[in-house]
Amino acid sequence: MLELRTVTSDEFIPWLHAESRAYGNRLDNDPEVLRPHFDLARSIAIFEDGSVVGGAHSHSIAMSIPGGAARIAGVANIAVQPTHRRQGVLTQMMRHQIHDIHARGEPMAALFASESAIYGRFGYGIGSLREQWAIDRHHNRYARRHEPGGRLRFVDPADITRELPEVCRRSTVGRPGLIEKPLHHWEQESRAPEHQQGGRGGLFYVAYDDDAGRTQGYAKYRTTGSTLVVNELMAVTRDANAALWRFCFDVDLITRTEAEKRPVDDPMPWLLADPRRLQRSTRDGMWLRLVDAPAALQLRTYQTDDRLTLQISDDLCDWNNGCFDLAGSPDGAACRPSQSTPDLSLTIAGLASAYLGAAGFTTLSQAGLVNEQTPGALHRADKMFAVPQQPWTPHNF
Ligand SMILES: CC(C)(COP(=O)(O)OP(=O)(O)OC[C@H]1O[C@@H](n2cnc3c(N)ncnc32)[C@H](O)[C@@H]1OP(=O)(O)O)[C@@H](O)C(=O)NCCC(=O)NCCS
Repeated sequence: MLELRTVTSDEFIPWLHAESRAYGNRLDNDPEVLRPHFDLARSIAIFEDGSVVGGAHSHSIAMSIPGGAARIAGVANIAVQPTHRRQGVLTQMMRHQIHDIHARGEPMAALFASESAIYGRFGYGIGSLREQWAIDRHHNRYARRHEPGGRLRFVDPADITRELPEVCRRSTVGRPGLIEKPLHHWEQESRAPEHQQGGRGGLFYVAYDDDAGRTQGYAKYRTTGSTLVVNELMAVTRDANAALWRFCFDVDLITRTEAEKRPVDDPMPWLLADPRRLQRSTRDGMWLRLVDAPAALQLRTYQTDDRLTLQISDDLCDWNNGCFDLAGSPDGAACRPSQSTPDLSLTIAGLASAYLGAAGFTTLSQAGLVNEQTPGALHRADKMFAVPQQPWTPHNF
């Protein structure tokens, strides 16, 4: 007999062990250090005869959206033990969790998926994309000569918590989809031995200071054999951006540079003299769920001043089903239930992919996720939801 409920304090460690088993890992370090970061009221499990067979967690996080930020649910630690896979355990937990998030008044939920086939059925859509890069040393010249105005320096890992979060924040202003990296993640990073940070090779932090001594960017990288892997590169200014990538390309003994989790509209490929040599692959980044669709639509701002009637279908959250009148502008929005004829009809997952700008309505319509009822509505929706910078979610939560 399966029972779904929150875990008690005594069940926290068995709950972590069940998650580890689902991923095929062992809990090597003392799991007690994780306890302060979990809210037991949001840690759910499915029990069989008192033993955890599956679990999931959510916590409140801030995500940047067009025009500001929203407090939403960050969903993580989703796991079903291999002994109980494909018996509907995840389905039960997802249904319960989405209703719980709704009851908490959080209008959206976000997660990172281990496999991209899992969460669409629960109304999640791709909220942001990311790219993976690789380039050979012989082909990484810039098209235009770059004369750095500042200087590079290594940062001691012990100092990253003090130095880098503010640079990270300034480098991403105005971009949707960003989840603020919690301080304890920076602290964990700064304390962890190099071999645990990224798995391979040594890990290094390099900062770029402008001629006034102000830090305008940093790169976090590791080396493995003759490959340099850029885990993270954040730049506030274009000078810092060009200088940091140049550095990551030119380190001696390196023949290849790779980069992880880059935004799809990153300026770096536009610096290159021979951009075709940059191998790029795109994949899903963060998955977004509009838990309370009208509330979420009302939170963001819009590029144009316009109105649209949206007919939303949602298999899991009945309150999202129906027509909503969205009146949006660069100053704000209102979204209310409506009796009008819809301009567009769409699935809740399709709307999630359009929400931060990862996909346009015309594209989604061509994939069958949106239907245009009023001629011209797709084009108007594309203009209304347009974002100057593509959504990006480089930090896991
Ligand atoms: C992925 C995982 C959570 C799925 O749990 P589960 O209890 O087996 O899922 P369910 O039985 O509720 O499956 C619901 C549906 O999703 C499908 N599904 C589940 N996992 C899937 C996967 N990895 N790939 C494709 N489809 C999947 C099922 O086939 C089922 O489809 P149906 O409704 O058409 O029959 C579980 O296998 C697991 O923990 N895997 C290892 C850890 C992991 O990847 N966790 C997810 C982290 S984001």
